[in-house]
Amino acid sequence: MVSMQKFLAACAVAGGLIWGGAAEAADAPASPSKVTQALTGDAVCTACHNESSPTPVLAIYQTKHGVKGDRRTPSCQSCHGESKEHLTNQKAPDVVFRKGAFASSESKVQSAACLSCHGKDVNRTRWDGGAHQVGDVACTSCHQVHRAHDKVRSKKTQAEVCFTCHKDQRRDSRKISHHPIGEGKVVCSDCHNPHGSAGPKLLAKNTVTETCFTCHAEKRGPFLWEHQPVTEDCTNCHTPHGSNITPLLKSRTPFLCSECHDGPHHSKDPAAGSVAGTQGGLTAIPSENYTGRACLNCHSMVHGSNHPAGALLHR
Ligand code: HEC
Ligand code: HEC
Ligand code: HEC
Ligand code: HEC
Ligand code: HEC
Ligand code: HEC
Ligand code: HEC
Ligand code: HEC
Ligand code: HEC
Ligand code: HEC
Repeated sequence: MVSMQKFLAACAVAGGLIWGGAAEAADAPASPSKVTQALTGDAVCTACHNESSPTPVLAIYQTKHGVKGDRRTPSCQSCHGESKEHLTNQKAPDVVFRKGAFASSESKVQSAACLSCHGKDVNRTRWDGGAHQVGDVACTSCHQVHRAHDKVRSKKTQAEVCFTCHKDQRRDSRKISHHPIGEGKVVCSDCHNPHGSAGPKLLAKNTVTETCFTCHAEKRGPFLWEHQPVTEDCTNCHTPHGSNITPLLKSRTPFLCSECHDGPHHSKDPAAGSVAGTQGGLTAIPSENYTGRACLNCHSMVHGSNHPAGALLHR
């Protein structure tokens, strides 16, 4: 990092050209037209914000935003605004993304600078009204554009960015059972579209199950015998971010099952057990079967069964 003094010295040289020196600037600021006449394109800014800048702004040329010869490539001013007042009066640029010498602009002003080019991209058509936009999160709360590597776009580092705001998910990701996020195999954005979505909770697909099926296709079926809570919503039993009950379960069996299947365990076959009571023509199986053993020992096909006789999800 270069010292601020050295940077300001470099500015003073360029400033002679642009700001016209501090004394002159106070009473007779150079006109913007004179500035643009002298320097064009990025040079208007890089005359000062060059390699001696205390912040590494030039790394932008190693990113897609620095591809020379592509018409669509932004200039400094496409994002920061024309910034006449900065060029002539040493005031803040029109759009400041990070608080430093100047206060940062409102998040909607920051995002508008990006949306002027990216607003029509398919992935961002639901930005307005999405949880992040509504929650006052700006594009640049996640993205870094003056770095060769944008942390939020790399599998290994994305979660770190999300965790700065989402502490619950960080805590969950450290539990015994979790999606391999820390391992770099799954990222938050496999399940979520942080830019907004048609589904609930910014999910990448319209529903929870559709989102899960993108990777766990075998759970989609179709099954001859479906289990209603599975086709409805995987989170009836699973928690996506982490659990101390493997595999990613909300609670242990039999409690997990008992949340919906309360009451006596019935059998049409009286020989199945002693008669603890009858209900709807069915005979209750002894309670030891019910509470003493894991439901899954018998009803192992909890996600659905394709066996002709698998109506009870036991084969
Ligand atoms: C004559 C020198 C000079 C020119 C030309 C210049 N700047 Fe600056 N700029 C500065 C100085 C000095 C600062 C305050 C020190 C700092 O934070 O880097 C600054 C600060 C900034 C900041 C805010 C940094 C922060 O942390 O708050 C941004 C953004 C910025 N300039 C963008 C631009 C853009 C875009 C242009 C071209 C339109 C431009 N500058 C042209 C000298 C200049
Ligand atoms: C003047 C137009 C313009 C503006 C303004 C603009 N971008 Fe871009 N951006 C582009 C272009 C062009 C690409 C390259 C697209 C491509 O290669 O398909 C791009 C690519 C990107 C990418 C993908 C980079 C990659 O490596 O694939 C991200 C992320 C991005 N922009 C974020 C932003 C953010 C955040 C802002 C606001 C701070 C912003 N952009 C402002 C034109 C712009
Ligand atoms: C909550 C964090 C977050 C916010 C806020 C955010 N992004 Fe992104 N962005 C991401 C992530 C994560 C990816 C990588 C997704 C992927 O590769 O599937 C991404 C990818 C991109 C890309 C490249 C891939 C694509 O989808 O085209 C562009 C361009 C982009 N973002 C622009 C923006 C713009 C513009 C805004 C503001 C309107 C914004 N982002 C706001 C997290 C964010
Ligand atoms: C695609 C939009 C975009 C373009 C193009 C762009 N900037 Fe930035 N600038 C940003 C964002 C966003 C930040 C906040 C830091 C970051 O994301 O890396 C920033 C930060 C800065 C800062 C403050 C340093 C800091 O990290 O806080 C300066 C100075 C600056 N830009 C100058 C420039 C100059 C000079 C150019 C042209 C060479 C330029 N910017 C081009 C979006 C842009
Ligand atoms: C395997 C898919 C999946 C992955 C990976 C994933 N999520 Fe989620 N996330 C979900 C589902 C499904 C929901 C909605 C149901 C719920 O809240 O349990 C959700 C909900 C959320 C919520 C809203 C919670 C609430 O209580 O309203 C936040 C915030 C969140 N996720 C952040 C993240 C972050 C950050 C990451 C990455 C560290 C991440 N998610 C990774 C599937 C996923
Ligand atoms: C700068 C802080 C910040 C960052 C970084 C951030 N978020 Fe958020 N996120 C929020 C806020 C604020 C909300 C609005 C709801 C709330 O208050 O929790 C939110 C909401 C969400 C929700 C819930 C949506 C809903 O409908 O309830 C999900 C999912 C989510 N974020 C995922 C992510 C992912 C994935 C990342 C990383 C790619 C990320 N967030 C990065 C601040 C952030
Ligand atoms: C991007 C792909 C992807 C998506 C989307 C996804 N998963 Fe996974 N899931 C994985 C991977 C990878 C593993 C780890 C498999 C392994 O270790 O063998 C896993 C493991 C699991 C496990 C077993 C965990 C354990 O501790 O053994 C459960 C349960 C699970 N996922 C449920 C879900 C649910 C529910 C959803 C939807 C909310 C979902 N998954 C969405 C990729 C995904
Ligand atoms: C009725 C509760 C319930 C629902 C709903 C449910 N699961 Fe499961 N899931 C379980 C149980 C219990 C296990 C552990 C099975 C075992 O240990 O044999 C499991 C295990 C898993 C596993 C890891 C072992 C394997 O079979 O691959 C994955 C992946 C999984 N479920 C994905 C899903 C997906 C995707 C959905 C939604 C389509 C879903 N589950 C809905 C109860 C459920
Ligand atoms: C969120 C509620 C819910 C949870 C949790 C749940 N189930 Fe179910 N289960 C249902 C519903 C609803 C049906 C369909 C009942 C019907 O068709 O009358 C069903 C059907 C069944 C059937 C087939 C019986 C029949 O009459 O068709 C079996 C066996 C079963 N569940 C076992 C389990 C087991 C074992 C667990 C725990 C791993 C479990 N269930 C967890 C709601 C749930
Ligand atoms: C020892 C094996 C066994 C265990 C353990 C077991 N079941 Fe069953 N279950 C059966 C048999 C056998 C039937 C079918 C009875 C019949 O209709 O003939 C059945 C029927 C059911 C049915 C169908 C509806 C009804 O009540 O008739 C549900 C729901 C069910 N079991 C849920 C559970 C749950 C929840 C658990 C754990 C708390 C569990 N079972 C534990 C063997 C078992």
